[in-house]
Amino acid sequence: MFGLARWRAVETQGIVRKTVERIIHTVVAKGMDKVATFNRRRLPALERPNPFLNGIHTPMSSEKTLYSLRVEGEIPASLNGRYLRIGPNPIGHTDPRSHHWFLGDGMTHGIKLEGGKAAWYRNRWVRSTAVSKALNEAPIPGPRRGTADNANTNIIGHAGRTYALVEAGAWPVELNDELETIAHNPFDGTLDVSFSAHPHLDRDTRELHTVCYDASVKHKVWHVVVDSAGKVIRQEAIPVEGGPTIHDCQITQKYVLVFDLPATVSMKKMLAGYPLPFEWNPSRPARVGLCPRAGSAADTIWCDVDPCYVFHTANAYETEDGEVIVDVVAHDSMYARSNMGPDSKRSCFERWTIDPTIKQVVRKVIHDQNQEFPRYDERLSGKAYRYAYSVGLPSEDYNELSIGATTLYKHDLAQSTTETHDFGINRYPGEFVFVARTDDAKEDEGWLVGFVVDLNDEHSELVILNAEKFTDHPTARIHIPHRIPPGFHGNWIPVI
Ligand SMILES: [Fe+2]
Repeated sequence: MFGLARWRAVETQGIVRKTVERIIHTVVAKGMDKVATFNRRRLPALERPNPFLNGIHTPMSSEKTLYSLRVEGEIPASLNGRYLRIGPNPIGHTDPRSHHWFLGDGMTHGIKLEGGKAAWYRNRWVRSTAVSKALNEAPIPGPRRGTADNANTNIIGHAGRTYALVEAGAWPVELNDELETIAHNPFDGTLDVSFSAHPHLDRDTRELHTVCYDASVKHKVWHVVVDSAGKVIRQEAIPVEGGPTIHDCQITQKYVLVFDLPATVSMKKMLAGYPLPFEWNPSRPARVGLCPRAGSAADTIWCDVDPCYVFHTANAYETEDGEVIVDVVAHDSMYARSNMGPDSKRSCFERWTIDPTIKQVVRKVIHDQNQEFPRYDERLSGKAYRYAYSVGLPSEDYNELSIGATTLYKHDLAQSTTETHDFGINRYPGEFVFVARTDDAKEDEGWLVGFVVDLNDEHSELVILNAEKFTDHPTARIHIPHRIPPGFHGNWIPVI
């Protein structure tokens, strides 16, 4: 009895502590938000139109549901499920001085494929409090973290549910199969800290692993694990300094990789009202942490790396002699020259070899053209692999726009070769995701699926490529009769 009473007392203390922390977080966040909002109205006018509100980025102004979609080629009959992609799409009037691409209201786009046909296309705003208000709708239920509730960066399926995700603040938002917002849902109340837009699924354990930072917390990030039932089972704090912005991570069999690089949250910029308060901070060290997937973050092995910034990783794995390999798109710097970044000059695909014994990272360029959004056959997460697929970026300084190349790359990491699929003049691909032909298909045996925006006549296509015949004409092109603004991440969610 004593044991049970004591356990209940400890549990009650934990609930009280969490409640107090949430109240403090809300009060502090609201106070900072007030100062930032005041100063945002005093930002200087831009010297040119905001690139993220014009041209290819011009937001959509309505939600559509389309059933009769023109198809060229043949949709593989075994592709049964939904291709979903999310990106920013600010609703209503947006002040160009204070709008940043990364912060726009989240909008999902989805196409359902079944039986060799495109059943529908839908686009829906994710209902943040602001979006519900703008649409004259009642607020969507569910807890918020302070004032943050705009999920606009990734959309995933996990444990039979669909979630819109963002980093650094807002909690996941649950959507139904037709992209309507159900609830703001921190994994049924099991998530206490912030989340990330880039969880990685271990196919053996069915657990999601991610590294999360909170824009208002400078001295720690968290390794968060969501189990196969969709409940958080680990929130391990990892000590860091100076508020690094960690966009992505990767897993191996033993480790989760922590990219502690010199792009940091700037409280000064935040309070001054800048829309994205990040800065390049070359005076701080650059390092990759090998944090044990289970056990204490105090055992993290920190390995020095030449300064650079990584938004996105391809795969990672351990070699037989104990080194860790991770492939990344490495930017020479980030947020160094502009308040409207991304603003690097180079973003090459690199292989990093991490030696935990000497605590050093060796960087080697795999492909020296600018690119982003690397994906791979994610059945192999944490294991040796051969192929990665990425999106080309303009070769010159692509300051603030990040759009302008018409190419997709396929990297053969065993042969050290790269193939290029060019979609043609004024046709701009976004991220393409690999979908295996069958569960037991070999690596690369499947399709690459993603959106292409065609500015020749302002329409979009969902393009399906045969990954093994990468440079061939697409297997299928599903026409969408409007321009879908460039977004961030998409995933294939099969019918199970
Ligand atoms: Fe991302």
